Amino acid sequence: MIDIHSHILPGLDDGAQDWRDALNLARAAVAEGITTIVATPHHANGVYTNDASAVGAAVNEMNDRLAAEGIALTVRPGQEIRIHDDLLEAWSRGELLTLAGSRYVLIELPSSRIPRGTLDLLHELKLMNLSPIIAHPERNAEIASHPERLAELVAAGACGQVTTHSLLGGFGRRIEQIAWGLCRRGLIHLVSSDAHHVEKRGFLLRESYSKVSSVLGDNFELFFRQNAEIVLYNGDIHVHPPIARNESIWRKIAKILRKS
Ligand SMILES: [Fe+2]
Repeated sequence: MIDIHSHILPGLDDGAQDWRDALNLARAAVAEGITTIVATPHHANGVYTNDASAVGAAVNEMNDRLAAEGIALTVRPGQEIRIHDDLLEAWSRGELLTLAGSRYVLIELPSSRIPRGTLDLLHELKLMNLSPIIAHPERNAEIASHPERLAELVAAGACGQVTTHSLLGGFGRRIEQIAWGLCRRGLIHLVSSDAHHVEKRGFLLRESYSKVSSVLGDNFELFFRQNAEIVLYNGDIHVHPPIARNESIWRKIAKILRKS
């Protein structure tokens, strides 16, 4: 399994605090069957600044330590980039990273709203041959109340990444419902952990895929798994999700069939 959103690098943000934390997360990832993790420390979120060079150095050391410890995991560089006014200029200054050297960039919205100008920014990124992935849209208050706002971002070329903990209820019942609702609307293309800490906020990727399979269907699980792999080799993400199991139209068809 591939995880494209994690805070495994130590001492850079509110994820792993030291090498012990980082290696504990790595061991937990391997135990779940995860083979590659994209490290995406927070960048430009008003609290943490982790530019490309800082992330690159930490990733190199992380992979050296994984090899030394005999942990069969590969960590690739990335960032979780908060939308900010300087984003395009920061890209031109070489401060930003895509996910694992692909064209995909992980973009974080503030938790309260979608900033004015977001659609324009997505458009600019596309013109630069970058493909934005919106991190955990289910945790954005504006999208939670108005899912059609995420649909606008997806129509503008963005993909959506839901967090495992949201799907499993770790952020409460409301976010859980919103997360599944966005999946059913076809606005989510990737599932990843956003792991911060091995016990307080781990991966749960295997459990989430299993639940996706039982709730939405095997095709949905495959769709999410394949898209995570596609990011790694910079292919074209599948943008049209399969039809979810229990979709209302199927319920209606089943009702009609029962009557006939
Ligand atoms: Fe994150």
